Amino acid sequence: MTEKVEITVNGEPTTADVEPRLLLAHYLRDVVGLKATNIGCDTTSCGACTVLLDGESVKSCTVLAVQADRQSVTTMEGLSPDSEHLHPVAAAFRAEHGLQCGFCTPGMVMATVGLLSENPKPTEREVREGLEGNLCRCTGYHNIVRAVLAAAGRDPREAEDKPAELAAPGFSTGSSE
Ligand code: FES
Ligand code: FES
Repeated sequence: MTEKVEITVNGEPTTADVEPRLLLAHYLRDVVGLKATNIGCDTTSCGACTVLLDGESVKSCTVLAVQADRQSVTTMEGLSPDSEHLHPVAAAFRAEHGLQCGFCTPGMVMATVGLLSENPKPTEREVREGLEGNLCRCTGYHNIVRAVLAAAGRDPREAEDKPAELAAPGFSTGSSE
């Protein structure tokens, strides 16, 4: 059994007949063919699959494609179509070296856009708390926090004075995730 979905992706209408169990992450990658949305766990743990769903950041492995029917999704491709047209958050990640292998980066950037839309001037602690659902296996948290602070118009050096909180795997110590 399949169901027809109509999902606007990066401003473009898409439609397909999908199995009700199909995850939005797989819809974006395998049906629409947009590969920037990475899948690191499939179990809501890593945040690599984060996209914007009607402007709110969500982990697309926790959303069924049928749940996104008639809604609007933005992926990294829509946010920053190429290196000449980087979204300010993506530009801040580049400027502050907020990536290493880059696998977590699309999810980090999308989660940051969601965070800043709710809290345009987060403190260093609010950045860590806001992104603690996104994991970086390269443990590049320090520069990621710098990048988010820079994107928010804050001094990225605010990230310098909390070295004890930079330990992997989370953004903040004591996380019970
Ligand atoms: S792939 Fe979705 S949270 Fe890891
Ligand atoms: S930059 Fe490699 S996983 Fe984050």
